[in-house]
Formats: sequence, structure tokens, C-alpha cells
Amino acid sequence: MASNREPGTGTGDDGPAEREQVDGPAAILGIDIGGSGIKGNLVDPTSGALRAERFKLETPQPSLPEAVATVVAKVIEHFEYDGPVGCTFPAIVKDGVTLSAANVDKAWIGCHAAALFSKTTGHQVVVVNDADAAGIAEMAVGAGQDRPGVTLLLTFGTGIGSAMFHDGVLIPNTELGHIHFEGHESVEDWAAAKVKDDENLSWKAWAGRVNRLLDHLARILSPDLFILGGGVSRRWDKWGRYLDVPVETVPAALRNEAGIVGAALLAARSDLVD
Ligand code: BGC
Repeated sequence: MASNREPGTGTGDDGPAEREQVDGPAAILGIDIGGSGIKGNLVDPTSGALRAERFKLETPQPSLPEAVATVVAKVIEHFEYDGPVGCTFPAIVKDGVTLSAANVDKAWIGCHAAALFSKTTGHQVVVVNDADAAGIAEMAVGAGQDRPGVTLLLTFGTGIGSAMFHDGVLIPNTELGHIHFEGHESVEDWAAAKVKDDENLSWKAWAGRVNRLLDHLARILSPDLFILGGGVSRRWDKWGRYLDVPVETVPAALRNEAGIVGAALLAARSDLVD
């Protein structure tokens, strides 16, 4: 059975949503699909504030498209929601089609995820790469707000996701977790939060790997800001101090909820909404 635990957090508790919950109109449902969990929440499309308690179900194993779509439908039903849905996916996503599958079943390669989810759930569903969604949220209402220049958001979990922005505009599907590094085919096989767990690394040892990756990315992309997200961003106090790179580096303000918020913001902005 898949672990329900966020990689690298060192705790079985996925933690409470840290954003304030407020009342207000026209919430949009955001759903974050990961290798181990599928979680959703209602999001205020203006402020990005969470409007309900997060609901999470396990990702089916194997994570075949139809099985995942059925769980997405269950998440939507839980919220008794009527409206467009924003959904993240941990792969390259172009025009609603998933084009890679590093940590999910290979059947996703070439799958029209947006069409499948829309058909299975009866809702209009927009699909976006998970790190791109997190980046959209951080730029709109989080740590990247009003930041000009190049901002690079990295998420650390089962894999490493990336979202790159220039003057707030997303360059989608950057997939920096798959650069060859330190003799590894994909740097995520060496520096993802899951590797910290798998190799029983201390925060310092794991952060040392992250630092080497950041240093390399600083050299080749000259970012003005790094935003570091994923479940481990909640434990920033444990590892942030070990980072020493010549670029301002901050934890994701929305922590691990950024994907849900970004997916919802995207659905709210897209043509799906009247
Ligand atoms: C995938 C990316 C994803 C990242 C984080 C990588 O293995 O290729 O698309 O953003 O994991 O989930």
C-alpha cells in the first residue's frame, strides 16, 4: 500500500492547512494529484485562501488513468461541488495531455487527462503540472508576489518539480528535476525529499545536496529568487539554515497547499468559468 506520508517530513501527519479559512462567494475546487495522495480543497479565486477542510484520498496503485479519475470524482463528490475544477498532475502537461510519467504509471504517457477527468467526473477539468500550479499560486498570492525578474520554484517530494517565471510569466514544463547531476540520470533520484527518507539522511546531509543543486541552477539560470516548496517546506526551520547560495532563497508561503491553490486559480482564470 502507498504511504500516506509526505516524503521528507519525518512524520505521518500531513499537517493542517496553514492558510486561513474564511467565508466568501464562488470558491473554485483545486485538486493536487501526487504519487501517494490525491487531495482537494475549495479556494477563494481572488485571495487564494482555503475555504474548507482539505480532503485527501490515497492514489490508487497501480496509478492507472481510469482508477485515478475515479478517485478525482470522489474528491469532487466530497465537496458537493458544482463548477470547474483545477487539477495538478506530476508530469509534463501540454493542452491537457500528460506526456511523461516519472512517478506514476506509464499508461499516463500520451493520455488526454483533461478529457478523461472531465468525462469521468462530469465537470470541466483543467490539468496542469503540479510544480507549475504551485508556482502560479506562489506568484499570485505567496512568496513570489510582485517579484520581477527570474523566479525559480522547486518542489521537493517524491520527485523534484520546477516552475520558472520571468516577470511573473510562467515558462511551463521546465522539468529541472530531470537534469543529469552528480552521476545521476535525474537529480531527483539524489535530492528529492523521498531520498532523504530512503537513505535515512540527516537534514544537514540532505540540504547539502539541495544546496549543490541550487548552486548549479544559480550558475546556469541566474534566478533572482528561489522558492522552495513541497511537504518539506513546512520543516524549513530544520534545513533552511544549511543553504548557502548567492540567490535569495525562501520557503513556499503556501507550503504544500500551493498546488491546490494554483490549480484552482488556473481553473478560475481559464475559459471554463463564465
Ligand atoms: C515529474 C514532474 C513533477 C515532479 C514533482 C517529476 O518526476 O517529472 O513533472 O513536477 O516530479 O512531482
